[in-house]
Amino acid sequence: MISTNVIPQNYKIGKADRSLKLKQRPLIIWFTGLSGSGKSSIADCVEQELFNSGFQTYLLDGDNIRHGLNKNIDFTNEGRKENIRRIGEVAKLFLDAGIIVITAFISPFREDRDAVRALVEPGEFIEVYVECPLDICESRDVKGLYAKARRGEILNFTGISSPFEEPLKPEIIVHSAQDNLKACVNQILAFTLNTIKP
Ligand code: ADX
Repeated sequence: MISTNVIPQNYKIGKADRSLKLKQRPLIIWFTGLSGSGKSSIADCVEQELFNSGFQTYLLDGDNIRHGLNKNIDFTNEGRKENIRRIGEVAKLFLDAGIIVITAFISPFREDRDAVRALVEPGEFIEVYVECPLDICESRDVKGLYAKARRGEILNFTGISSPFEEPLKPEIIVHSAQDNLKACVNQILAFTLNTIKP
């Protein structure tokens, strides 16, 4: 069912007012990468650093959102598309609220990530590719899901039976197999700190 006869309302308080009040310029820091690449761990540390430096942040995480807002979504290509579309809209709302939004989703499809980028103003979407070879992610197998996917117990598993499209021009690439957590976090902070200061 498509909504019809819906006319957007304009309200007096906008993103600029909220941004001024919070003394920060809102931003979406969008992590993408294979399961087990380190997205959540790096996102967690980046958020702590920003939050502890006085910024208002919010972190949206794939496994968590799939327990609530997106619990009715599967891992087919169409399901992932809708997952990322909704997260993009949620991230845009948080951005409008003046918040530094950090997202950690595999978000395997270029088209879906680009669609989120297109939702916001130029410069408000920072794509961070957490690059890590599949064999390393698989050897870590923190959640035991790669083993299940190899046994055929999970279908459409990213990297095994479902594709991951590497970003072509991400703002940031961190190499989590080579560099330690702190180095990856610092690389992201160095890029973002200047952007979010008013
Ligand atoms: S996305 O592809 O739609 O962006 P999302 O980040 O929300 O994925 O969820 C990925 C998480 O779901 C993984 O970290 C993993 O724990 C779990 N998961 C369960 N089934 C799959 C699957 N088939 N492919 C990838 N991840 C899966």
